[in-house]
Amino acid sequence: MFWYDMGMEESILVIVKPDGMVKGLAGYVLTRFEATGLRMVAARMAKVTRELAVAHYYHLREKPFYEELIRFIMGEFDNNQDNVLAFAFIGENAVKKARAIAGATNPEEADYRTIRGSLGRVTTKGIFENVVHVSSDHIEGKREIKLWFWPEELTVELFPTKLAGNRKVWLEPGGPKTRTAPWPEEYK
Ligand code: CMP
Repeated sequence: MFWYDMGMEESILVIVKPDGMVKGLAGYVLTRFEATGLRMVAARMAKVTRELAVAHYYHLREKPFYEELIRFIMGEFDNNQDNVLAFAFIGENAVKKARAIAGATNPEEADYRTIRGSLGRVTTKGIFENVVHVSSDHIEGKREIKLWFWPEELTVELFPTKLAGNRKVWLEPGGPKTRTAPWPEEYK
């Protein structure tokens, strides 16, 4: 039995994006998420390579804003701030609680009391500087946590693992698989 299978708990990935990092908002974002009462089970500074960015946003690869999205998360619009802070949280209704704190994806449409509504903006080129990424649902949450973290970086055994050589890896990797997209060859 793994944590994930034990009940109603959901797991989500939260990322303080490059715009949030350069504005010094990492601590504030964490404080807001801690206030939800969700349990933090992982945290790490992550260097966002193109490979990671592409895997993370695989499901958006056909969107008109895709290339900007990739360049944005790699910090290219924020003085090449390519280190972001990634967190994993678990708990009941984690998706709903986290999304309520983050606000709508478009900062101009987000409630002013939310992180994005109070601190985000849309640039004149239409890029969403929305400070924080939150998994869109618990299926994406599982996938994204496995993509951004190694099993030993989590404080709980959230998902099944296997040994690869002498390293623990996820039994099902956290590649770009989503409900709508099959695993691309290069991630199998
Ligand atoms: P994020 O939570 O990281 O997940 C997908 C991202 O795509 C989202 O935040 C926004 O930054 C970006 N995004 C979504 N819709 C649009 C849009 N219409 N125009 C520009 N960027 C968008």
